[in-house]
Amino acid sequence: MGLLVTFEGIEGSGKSTQIGLVREFLEGDGYPCLVTKEPGGAPLGEGISGILLGRDDLRISPLAEVFLFGANRAQHVAEILRPALKEGKVVLCDRFTDATVAYQGYGRGVDVGLIEQVNRWATGDLMPDITILLDCPVELGMARAKGKDRFEREGYTFHQRVREGYLRIAHQEPQRVKVVSGEGEEGMIQEEIRKVLRPLLARR
Ligand SMILES: Nc1ncnc2c1ncn2[C@@H]1O[C@H](COP(=O)(O)OP(=O)(O)O)[C@@H](O)[C@H]1O
Ligand SMILES: [Mg+2]
Repeated sequence: MGLLVTFEGIEGSGKSTQIGLVREFLEGDGYPCLVTKEPGGAPLGEGISGILLGRDDLRISPLAEVFLFGANRAQHVAEILRPALKEGKVVLCDRFTDATVAYQGYGRGVDVGLIEQVNRWATGDLMPDITILLDCPVELGMARAKGKDRFEREGYTFHQRVREGYLRIAHQEPQRVKVVSGEGEEGMIQEEIRKVLRPLLARR
């Protein structure tokens, strides 16, 4: 069976950068892998992603946001994640269920229990085998991110709540969620991530 690895963290924490390096590492070692992301990841998801990230002209309530991410996730799981895992691939997914808890729950104040329920429906209880949480100070993330989408334009206190929300999730699920510092040099961070992944790959 495959392996589902999700990457979480605030904007600019280095998810895209590190996923690219993990892909190189896996492909170099001959592991079949698939890189995907949320929102997005399937044709429907690309449409929803455009609404969630790109449209300044729309008002989207926090609860509507939860369901848009949920709709995106249901399609992504069915169309991309489950088939790839069934084929035995190592799937690297840029944001997943924890992002909705962190952003819409801790960031926007939607009830976390409700979000967890929507997540369970959307995923059919598909859980990441491992989640890499890239943690970095909000100032650093914001300075690195270009600040172009709806979430990246949110202010410091919003991102601070999101960061703390992510850390709370990691505290609650230490077996699944591994916190890796997103500060410092890219290669060093990558080595920390590989240390987390190697035992899982060996067991696969
Ligand atoms: N460890 C690092 N040190 C310095 N700059 C970095 C580091 N990791 C990523 N960056 C840069 O910061 C920006 C945001 O990184 P990115 O990987 O896109 O973050 P994310 O996908 O989490 O938003 C990019 O321009 C990237 O090149
Ligand atoms: Mg990114």
